[in-house]
Amino acid sequence: MTDDRLLAQDNYDADEEKLELSLRPQFLSQYIGQTKVKEEMAIYISAAKKREEALDHVLLYGPPGLGKTTLAMVIANELQVKIKSTSGPAIEKAGDLVALLSELDPGDVLFIDEIHRLPKAVEEVLYSAMEDFYIDIVVGQGQATHPVHVPLPPFTLIGATTRAGQLSAPLRDRFGIVEHMQFYDVSDLRKIVQRTAKVFDSEIDVSAADELARRSRGTPRVSNRLLKRVRDFAEVKNERKISLETTREALDKLQVDIEGLDQTDRRLLLMMINNYHGGPVGIKAIAANVGEDQETIEEVYEPYLLQKGFIKRTQRGRAVTQKAYKHLGIDFLGED
Ligand SMILES: Nc1ncnc2c1ncn2[C@@H]1O[C@H](COP(=O)(O)OP(=O)(O)OP(=O)(O)O)[C@@H](O)[C@H]1O
Ligand SMILES: [Mg+2]
Repeated sequence: MTDDRLLAQDNYDADEEKLELSLRPQFLSQYIGQTKVKEEMAIYISAAKKREEALDHVLLYGPPGLGKTTLAMVIANELQVKIKSTSGPAIEKAGDLVALLSELDPGDVLFIDEIHRLPKAVEEVLYSAMEDFYIDIVVGQGQATHPVHVPLPPFTLIGATTRAGQLSAPLRDRFGIVEHMQFYDVSDLRKIVQRTAKVFDSEIDVSAADELARRSRGTPRVSNRLLKRVRDFAEVKNERKISLETTREALDKLQVDIEGLDQTDRRLLLMMINNYHGGPVGIKAIAANVGEDQETIEEVYEPYLLQKGFIKRTQRGRAVTQKAYKHLGIDFLGED
C-alpha cells in the first residue's frame, strides 16, 4: 500500500461505502474535535431553527480528510432537513444547478464538495441563487431562446474546499458562515480511533490507539485507514485486543514514522535537503522533483509539514527547518 492511498479518497465498493456511512457521526455531539467550529455551528443551527429560517450559507475549508463532508451531513441532520450532495466539477452547466435546486424543499441543504472547481458560468448563476433565491436562465434553441426567471425555495448552501484561496471573492463573500477546519490533536484522534474500532467490532489497547493517533498526521481519514491495516496485522497474529506492539510493527511496515510522516513527506524533505541545501525552494520545483503535482503538494503534504514545523514558508519559497533535520538524523549546518 502506498502512502498516497492512505490519503486519497478512493472509489469505495458497496461494502466499504456502507462502512464509511456507519463511521460518520450523525450529530454534533458525536462529532469529535473541531471544538470551535462545533460550538459556533451549534449556535447558528439553533438560531436558524428558532427563527424557522434556512441556515445561512456555510463554507468549510481545510486539508483533505478532516471531516468536511461529515460535518455537512451532521449540520443537515441537526437542522432536520434533507441534504443533496454534489461536487463542483459535476455541475457542468447552469441547467444542472437549476435541476438540483428545484428538487429542494424550503430549508434543505445543497452540499457542493470541491466548490473551488465549479465552472465559472455556473458560479455566476449561483450568486443570485445564494443571495436572493432565484435563478435567471435562458432556455430554448436558436431563434426561440427566451429568458426564464426561476424562483427557488430558501435553502442552505454548504460548500467544502481544500483551497479557500482559489475561491473567487464574490463567491466567498456570499457565505455568511466560514469555518476553517484544523488538524486534530492526538487526544481527539485517539477518541476517533476508539470509536472506529467499536464500529469495526474490534478491541484496541489505549496505548495502541494513542500510538495510531500520533501517527495519523492529524487526520481522521488517515486514522481510520491505518486502523484497518493495523487490525489486519492483529488478526493474523490472533490478537484479541490490538496491542501497542502490533500497532508499532504495522505502522513501521507501512513506513509511517513516529511523527506521522509517510514516505512522500520524507522524500520531499530529503529532496529539498539534498538538492537545494534545505531551500528555500519554489513549490513548482518541489513538485517537479518529487514527481507529484503541485496541487497535491499544496493541499496534502505541505499543510501538515508546516503545521509540524518541518518546513517553513519564506519569501523565496519553502525551507526545511532544523527540527526536520533532527527528525531525519541529518546534521543541520544552516541557521533557523
Ligand atoms: N470529527 C470526526 N469524528 C469522527 N470521525 C470523523 C470526524 N471527522 C472525520 N471523520 C471520519 O474521517 C473520514 C473522513 O472524513 P470526511 O470524508 O468528512 O473528510 P473531508 O474533509 O470531507 O475530506 P475531503 O476533503 O477529502 O473531501 C470519514 O470516515 C469520517 O467518518
Ligand atoms: Mg469530503
